[in-house]
Amino acid sequence: MTEAHDHKVWSAVDEYFSTELLPADPILEAALRDSEKAGLPPVQVSPLQGKLLQLLASIRGAQRILEIGTLGGYSTIFLARALPPEGRLVTLELSPVNAAVARANIARAGFSANVEVRIGQALHSLAGLEQEKAGPFDLIFIDADKPNNPAYLEASMRLARAGTLIIADNVVRSGAVTHAASNNPSVVGIRRFCELIGRHPRLSATAIQTVGTKGHDGLLLAVVQS
Ligand code: DHB
Ligand code: MG
Repeated sequence: MTEAHDHKVWSAVDEYFSTELLPADPILEAALRDSEKAGLPPVQVSPLQGKLLQLLASIRGAQRILEIGTLGGYSTIFLARALPPEGRLVTLELSPVNAAVARANIARAGFSANVEVRIGQALHSLAGLEQEKAGPFDLIFIDADKPNNPAYLEASMRLARAGTLIIADNVVRSGAVTHAASNNPSVVGIRRFCELIGRHPRLSATAIQTVGTKGHDGLLLAVVQS
């Protein structure tokens, strides 16, 4: 089978499950529409992946969530939906343009009081959160520039507690994660990130490959041990 044919099947299956399992959602559809209108790259999580994030946050009972990489706030809305009324979510975004789109999308979803969009280099914002003793977070979703994933992991560990769930997007990259000799900075970053997690005495982890509208990729899940 060709790659194009595979992708067609994966997308049809995504469409099937989205139709069967996800309710019509004008707020999320508007968020996608306005992100596209503003010229943001359409690399947000798929609807089914977003719902997975929401369910994981809900299962974790997360009251404080940290997201590294906001884009247009699409995954942010899914995560915020798992919060209790007094829950808090901090999401970090480099681009002021993306952040403005995200804030409008988050406001329309009714989460302006729960969600803070912090603009700047995520590593700088993470240092600020540490300084403010903003942690510990119950769930941390890493979905920003992949070369910095190793540094994001280290910062995340300083903002975590025993039981914190760390989730990272895009760890498969159509299989490129297996390319040990790659000098693609994203692949190098993801491989180092996986290596650090695998060796970490306080992390218990797995990864799942995903196929669908976004092609062949995957999520890594790690839980901080006591
Ligand atoms: C890209 C980033 C992502 O987080 C993603 O899920 C897919 C693609 C990118 O920058 O190309
Ligand atoms: Mg991603």
